Amino acid sequence: MLMSRPVELLGTSWVLFAGLLVPLQHAAEGTEKAAAVGSSVLLPGPDNITHIYSTRWEYLDGTGSRTILQYYRGSHDPAICTPYAGRAVFHPSNGSLLLEDVQESDSGIYKVTVNAGDRESLKILLEVLKPVSRPQLRSSSLVAQATGEVLCDVVEGRVDAITWKKDGQPLPPDRGFYLSDSFSVLYLRSAKKSDCGSYSCNASNRISWQETSLNVTVAGLSPPLQDALRIAVVAVVFAAVSGWGLIFPVCQSEKLRIRGELWRWLSAYTCGLVCIASVLAGTAGILWMREEGPSIAIILPEIALTYVMVVNFVVSATVTFQPTKLTQLKSKTAQRMMGYAAPAGVVSVVLTTSFLIKNIHHRHEEGCTDFVDVTALTVSTAAVSALPLLAIFLCYHTTQGWLKDRDSSWADKERYIPYCLFPCKFIPS
Ligand SMILES: *[C@@H]1O[C@H](CO)[C@@H](O)[C@H](O)[C@H]1NC(C)=O
Ligand SMILES: *[C@@H]1O[C@H](CO)[C@@H](O)[C@H](O)[C@H]1NC(C)=O
Ligand SMILES: *[C@@H]1O[C@H](CO)[C@@H](O)[C@H](O)[C@H]1NC(C)=O
Ligand SMILES: *[C@@H]1O[C@H](CO)[C@@H](O)[C@H](O)[C@H]1NC(C)=O
Repeated sequence: MLMSRPVELLGTSWVLFAGLLVPLQHAAEGTEKAAAVGSSVLLPGPDNITHIYSTRWEYLDGTGSRTILQYYRGSHDPAICTPYAGRAVFHPSNGSLLLEDVQESDSGIYKVTVNAGDRESLKILLEVLKPVSRPQLRSSSLVAQATGEVLCDVVEGRVDAITWKKDGQPLPPDRGFYLSDSFSVLYLRSAKKSDCGSYSCNASNRISWQETSLNVTVAGLSPPLQDALRIAVVAVVFAAVSGWGLIFPVCQSEKLRIRGELWRWLSAYTCGLVCIASVLAGTAGILWMREEGPSIAIILPEIALTYVMVVNFVVSATVTFQPTKLTQLKSKTAQRMMGYAAPAGVVSVVLTTSFLIKNIHHRHEEGCTDFVDVTALTVSTAAVSALPLLAIFLCYHTTQGWLKDRDSSWADKERYIPYCLFPCKFIPS
């Protein structure tokens, strides 16, 4: 095996060192050659010899020498020794030797001696290399402000150098770190928008080079922040739908106003939806704080959201399972607390999520990926959450006459409804 690094040596001779051939960076031309596996390589004879009487080619390895051929002028054919027979061609005119189909094991020192004189000998270091394979370029997941890396890996062939380019411009050599001879890493510390672009990695050795490019994008949002965004979007849609559920009855004329059992379901559903929206908005806020650290601008809304979540849950559960309990509620404070819970919830959710979505969008701008597409999520959430409301209104319109005639028992106890639906406070019972 040949060591790749040239070592300073005394004199101009080659040193055979524990089986390793350590080449000197030789000044004389033509003494070092590199060839690709499978190619043919011409080993030149000494160039200023005018009369060649005899030529001897040897291969030197760590322990000794092996004769390749011996040629005497006048004899017909040079005697080529066994391992080289059939793949070595000798030119008697100038003493050069053509080796065909060279393999990595042919790497080593070749010595030619002309006219049996030691002064008329030449040593050639031959290095047979596999061409480098195409580098494999990949990047870790790159998120703005975090450290990422672009990796260049060469599977086959001895690699002498790996150089990096970004958008066609060479990067300073100290940007790439070698983890091994054939593996280089480019660290992107605190990744940002300007790190986006096309990176290429050029792996080369003395006989070949290969280059691969990769388009690198830096995501503005980490996966938890993307989740926070989606959750915030669902929360704000829920809040909007429940806001509609709160306002819709107010817009109806006094006579046609939804009442009775259907109004009970409307109340339970609307308050329930506000409760879920506050849970989601709270979760989105917590996800944001886990990524960005706690901030008072999130903690205060979290407290408000916890309050509206609990109150709306109690109201929704009571309206669903024990409506009579609400009619028995006498305390004015408790009545007011419950009456404002749903509108307060809608407002808190909308404010908190708007703040979060604005911050998340700002964060997204630090990367160069497309913004998370939330259109489908918005539309489907709106459709699913509005469906029960539509069902209630549809049911109301088809059974209106029936309710008017029969004046169900719930109509009498309408007083409990204002506890959940703020606007209903103004409905005279
Ligand atoms: C030696 O001669 C052969 C054939 O005549 C030629 O192909 C080769 O290039 C010559 N070698 C050198 C080093 O000139
Ligand atoms: C070739 O000739 C130069 C002088 O012209 C001499 O110094 C050198 O040693 C010669 N090379 C060989 C291999 O004999
Ligand atoms: C790759 O590197 C090799 C060796 O440094 C060089 O010869 C070659 O031109 C480079 N390729 C490109 C596309 O820059
Ligand atoms: C990188 O992106 C550019 C356009 O932005 C495109 O033309 C090119 O083919 C992409 N290269 C790779 C390796 O995907």
